[in-house]
Parts: sequence; C-alpha cells; structure tokens
Amino acid sequence: MAKKRVLVTGGAGFIGSNYVDFMLQHFDDELVVLDKLTYAGDLRNLERFKGHPNYHFVQGDICDSKLLEDLFHQYQFQQVVHFAAESHVDNSITGPSAFIETNIVGTFQLLQAAYKLWMLGPNQLKDGFKGARFLHVSTDEVYGTLGETGLFTEETSYAPNSPYSASKASSDFIVRSYFHTYGLPVVTTNCSNNYGPNQHKEKLIPTIIRKAISGAPIPIYGDGKNVRDWLFVKDHCSGIKLVLDKGVLGETYNIGGRNERKNLYIAHAICELLDEIKPIQNSYKEQITFVTDRPGHDFRYAIDASKIEKELGWKAAETFETGIKKTVTWYLNNTNRL
Ligand SMILES: NC(=O)c1ccc[n+]([C@@H]2O[C@H](COP(=O)([O-])OP(=O)(O)OC[C@H]3O[C@@H](n4cnc5c(N)ncnc54)[C@H](O)[C@@H]3O)[C@@H](O)[C@H]2O)c1
Repeated sequence: MAKKRVLVTGGAGFIGSNYVDFMLQHFDDELVVLDKLTYAGDLRNLERFKGHPNYHFVQGDICDSKLLEDLFHQYQFQQVVHFAAESHVDNSITGPSAFIETNIVGTFQLLQAAYKLWMLGPNQLKDGFKGARFLHVSTDEVYGTLGETGLFTEETSYAPNSPYSASKASSDFIVRSYFHTYGLPVVTTNCSNNYGPNQHKEKLIPTIIRKAISGAPIPIYGDGKNVRDWLFVKDHCSGIKLVLDKGVLGETYNIGGRNERKNLYIAHAICELLDEIKPIQNSYKEQITFVTDRPGHDFRYAIDASKIEKELGWKAAETFETGIKKTVTWYLNNTNRL
C-alpha cells in the first residue's frame, strides 16, 4: 500500500517540529512540512530530518491559495495537521493584524484547498479520499478565563479575551462550519500550555531559564498567581495523532495534562532545578522580579481532558515535574536556543 501523505503546516515551529520528530520515529507516513519561516519558525528544529525519505520541506505561506492548490495537487495529501499560526499573546496585543491574516484567513485557505482536492461537492468525498482527515490544532485560550475553580470542557462556551485567542476561536468556528456545511472530515484539538524542547525563546519557560543563567532579573507578570495547565509537548503530539486516527469527525477534543501550576511555582521549580544542576553562590530564586501585568491577562486556564482519556485512551506520560527536568536539561545543552 502506498504511504499516506500528510501536510504538516507550521512544522518549523515549536509543537510542529516535535510532531514531525514523533511521526518520523513511530510511523511510516510521508510528511510535507509547509512553513513560512516567520521569526517563530526555525530550520534548526528540522535539521536532523534532512535527507529522511519521509520528510520534505516547503517554505511558503498558508494564505497563498495558489501555492496550496499546487501542493495539494502535487502530493495528493490524505491528511492535514494544521499547526501554523501566530502564537504569542503579547505580539497579538502589539500587532494583531498578522494574527487575523494567518490564523483566520490562512486556516480558511487550507480548508478550501482540502475541500477542492477531497470533495466533489457538499457531503461527497471523492473515491480515494474517503479516509481523508484535517486536524486543526487549537488552544484552550478560546474558552477565556476561569476563576479559582472549574475546568474547561468541550461544552464550555467560547469567550476569547486576546486578539490571539479571538483569532484561534474564529479559526475553530470556520473549521466547524466546513464540517457542518460541506461534510469536510475535520477534527479539532484544544490544548493547554505546552512546554519542552524547541520552544521559541520569547515564551515563559525559555525566558525564565535564559534570564536565570545570564544573571538577569527573571520577570514574572503581576503577582505570579496566574494559573496555567502545563503539558509536555510530546504528550500533545501523541494526543494529536490519536485524535487524527480515532477521533469522531466534527468533534473537538480538549488535551491537557492535569498539571495546573501558578506562574510563580514554575519560576521556583526552574530555579530549584538550576540550583541543583548549575549551582551559583545564591539561589537563582533571588533573581525573580514582578513586572507590570499583561493587559487583559487571563487568570486561570485548566482543562478537563476526560473526553480524550475515556473515548480515545489518551493519557499524559509526563507530570510537570518530570517534563520540566527534561526541558531545563535540553535548554542547558542547547543554550544557543535561548
Ligand atoms: N504553544 C502552546 O502552548 C500552544 C498550546 C495550544 C495550542 N497551540 C497551537 O499550536 C500551534 C503551534 O503552536 P507553536 O507554539 O508551535 O507555535 P510557534 O509560534 O512556535 O510556531 C508556529 C509556526 O508557524 C509558522 N507560520 C506562521 N505563520 C505562517 C504562515 N502564514 N504560513 C505558514 N507558516 C506559518 C511559523 O513560521 C512557525 O514555524 C498553533 O496553532 C497554536 O495556536 C499552542
């Protein structure tokens, strides 16, 4: 049987490159990575796959409908795993337009390209594409913010608060509409905060490590009490693959590690690991400083992952404490990524 051809958008970024790694290690599908290589894309994330027979790289923009049409025609993709996005909340506050363009218009263009290749018309999949699937990777931030208690389920109403989360919410709705209107075979995952190797240095965990080891103040927004539900990136990848293979079409699946931690706890945990692995005279904790909070900063995110756990048998392999040790060790071995 011919190998399945899979389009992976945004594969030069943090989660996409971990997904490529996961797929090339465990499966025999042929992957075509499409990435614009914005400031967030980094070919160093993909360097070791060069020459692998199941890996191809194309530099390009998901908003470019002609390029998409050509690629879908050339490779006859059976699956799309859509990671490409502008992903940093702070950047969406200072410059929202790229978020609207890539996250909303880009997702629309991809859906259109898949629709044209896979379908004769509404609810009519072409022969040869009966098993085709489009997986849209989204975020728990679409649900807005929680108080001290409660969890986001797949039934929680959308209430995005930042231009980033609003653009992701919009893309989720467009994906949903392609299922309900055209019968396009889609599934969506909404995941909590990821961490692990290859994360861009602008994000919280690499920033804490970088500032700590360079002796600089470690900036923590507000009072450090904001809560995020952390998931090691490889656990996200295994969840995505499971939803791609076994998820019910048109459904959404929340992915989260049941690892709620306050931002200040994250900073303390990293400092304690550094105190152990790379001791200095004082504890790194002394470098922690509180800075003016992000405008509209959501207080707490927490995922109820029971649906993917019960229906698809997924479970996170790492706790925050095991995952953060792997992450800190990786950054210390790759300080040029900080
Ligand atoms: N990082 C998280 O904690 C997290 C959590 C839940 C969901 N997500 C979602 O997962 C996906 C991947 O996130 P990430 O953290 O890896 O992001 P990232 O910023 O590290 O990577 C995004 C990648 O997309 C590429 N890209 C951007 N615009 C593009 C365009 N117009 N055309 C083609 N490629 C383009 C970039 O070059 C980059 O390689 C995003 O959709 C994000 O919303 C992320």
